[in-house]
Amino acid sequence: MSFTVAIDGPAAAGKGTISRAIAREFGFAHLDTGLLYRAVGMKGGDPIIAARNLSSDDLARDGLRSLAAGEAASRVAVLPEVRAALVAFQRDFAQRAGGAVLDGRDIGTIICPEAEVKLFVTASAETRARRRWLEAGEQGGYEEVLAQVRARDARDIGRADAPLLAAPDAILLDTTEMTVAQAIEAAKEVIAERLETR
Ligand code: DC
Repeated sequence: MSFTVAIDGPAAAGKGTISRAIAREFGFAHLDTGLLYRAVGMKGGDPIIAARNLSSDDLARDGLRSLAAGEAASRVAVLPEVRAALVAFQRDFAQRAGGAVLDGRDIGTIICPEAEVKLFVTASAETRARRRWLEAGEQGGYEEVLAQVRARDARDIGRADAPLLAAPDAILLDTTEMTVAQAIEAAKEVIAERLETR
């Protein structure tokens, strides 16, 4: 029996942290779908071929969490053929027995429109840029990170194929004024409630 939690939202809104906490709490498998696009972006060569031949080695390489990899991901993610090549893997993952949480941009809208729970996690661009900037290992100043966050939002929202969009039945979670613990608690409550009433 599958139970899918779809978590979408812009870069650095807290999707990853919330998804990991939920997976731990409920014993679900977790797929960070951004990692697939990051691996394709960093592989070099033709991104469509890279997406069709993506291996577990590609997903394990260093540097996939860097700003540069996020940029590269956002660029290849506009290509419909790249997106199409990654659909089956994500849908299979969502069907796992024991439950799955997938986080990304189009999980509730395209990948798993039938997900039992859909959350759209967001925060102001300034808050997200500050969080990214405070993360260890990033180069550059806050203004530079903010400009990158805004550019990435514009590309993710503006692309024709599977743009960043809240599903009509998604629950909005704005984490701008929340601590990490509060955001996790809010997400857990939504899921626990849905598990009880199914
Ligand atoms: O979530 P992230 O920052 O790791 O995602 C990196 C980029 O990958 C993001 O800017 C757009 C793309 N992406 C996507 O188009 N669809 C997804 N489901 C996940 C990520």
